[in-house]
Amino acid sequence: MKKYDVVILGATGVVGQTMIKILEEEDFPVNKIYPLASARSHGETVFYKGKPILVEDAENFDFAKVQIGLFSAGASVSAKYAPLAAQKGCVVIDNTSHFRMHQDIPLIIPEVNANDIKQYKKENIIANPNCAAIQLLVALKPIYDAVGIRRINVVTYQSVSGTGKAALKELFHQSQDVLAGKVTSNEVYPIQIAFNLIPQIDSFEPNGYTKEELKIVYETKKILNDPEILVNPTAVRVPVFYGHSEAVHIETKVKITADEAKQLLHKAPGVIVKDNLQGNGYPSPAIDAAGKNAVYVGRIREDISHPLGLNLWIVSDNIRKGAALNSVQIAKLLVREYL
Ligand code: A2P
Repeated sequence: MKKYDVVILGATGVVGQTMIKILEEEDFPVNKIYPLASARSHGETVFYKGKPILVEDAENFDFAKVQIGLFSAGASVSAKYAPLAAQKGCVVIDNTSHFRMHQDIPLIIPEVNANDIKQYKKENIIANPNCAAIQLLVALKPIYDAVGIRRINVVTYQSVSGTGKAALKELFHQSQDVLAGKVTSNEVYPIQIAFNLIPQIDSFEPNGYTKEELKIVYETKKILNDPEILVNPTAVRVPVFYGHSEAVHIETKVKITADEAKQLLHKAPGVIVKDNLQGNGYPSPAIDAAGKNAVYVGRIREDISHPLGLNLWIVSDNIRKGAALNSVQIAKLLVREYL
C-alpha cells in the first residue's frame, strides 16, 4: 500500500493533537509525520504510535517534503503557509475559516458532498467546514435529500475546546475560582464562561449576527450547493469542555413525520440516533459525544407550531467530527481517489 508523508501544522494545539491521534486510530497510510507549531513550542515533542517526534517551527519547514498537510493553527497562519505548501505540491486540508468561501476551493463533509473534492486541483487546497455546520449537515442531509429543506433555525451550544487550549484552561481555572469563592478573571472570552453562557462567538457584523453565525449560513449554502436555503442561527458558548449541541428547527418542502425522519437517520452514515422518551433517551455532549466520532441525534419531533416543521437535537464532538476526524476523512478520500 502506498504511504504518504504528512505535515500537521498546529500539532501542539487541541485539534492538531487529535489529528495525530485519529491518523493512528484510522490507520492512515503515513510514511513520515512532521509536527509543526510556532517558535513557542521549540523543543517540544508529540507522540505518534508511541514514539516521540520533535515539533518543528513552521517558519523553517520545507513543504516540498510532504504530500499532505493537515492545517489547524488559525486563519492567519493558514493564509501564510497554505499557498506556499500548495505550490510545493503538498495538498492542504485546512481546518481554518480562511479559504472556506473561496470559489475554487472545495468545502467538504465526506458524508454530504464527497464528490466536490475533485475541484481541489485548482489550488491544491481543500477546506474543512466550521464545526457547527459539519454536525448540522451530517444530520440534515438525509432529510434534505428526501423531502427538501426550505429553512433552518438553529441555536448552538458550543463547547470551549472550539476556541483552543487557552480556553480549556480558562474554563478550568474560572470554575475553580468560582467554587472557591474567589474573584475570577477572563482573558480568552469577553466575559466569564464558568457557570455562565455567552451569546457571542467571534465578533459582531453590522447586521447584528456574529461571524460564527454567518459561517453557518454561508457554509451551509456552499456545501449543499443551494443558494436558496434559508438559515437563521444563534451561536452560544457554553461551559462544556468538549462537544457542541444544537437545537434545530427545520421547515421542509414536503411534510415528513418524526418516525420517517428517525428511519432515515438510523440509516445515515456517521449518525447515531438516541431518541427514547423513557429514561435519558437523548444525547448530551459530555456523556455521549466527547471522545466519539459520531453525530448523535435525539428529541426528533414534529413542530406543533408549523405543518412542515421538524425539531431535532444534534450533538457531536467538535474537535473530532467538527475538525480533526473530518479532515482525516477528507485525507482518506484524497488518497483513495487522487493521490
Ligand atoms: P504553539 O503551541 O507553538 O503556539 P489551539 O487552537 O489549541 O490554541 O492551538 C493552536 C496551534 O496553532 C498550536 O499548535 C500553535 O502552536 C499553533 N500556532 C499558532 N500560531 C502559530 C504560528 N504563527 N505558526 C505556527 N503555528 C502556530
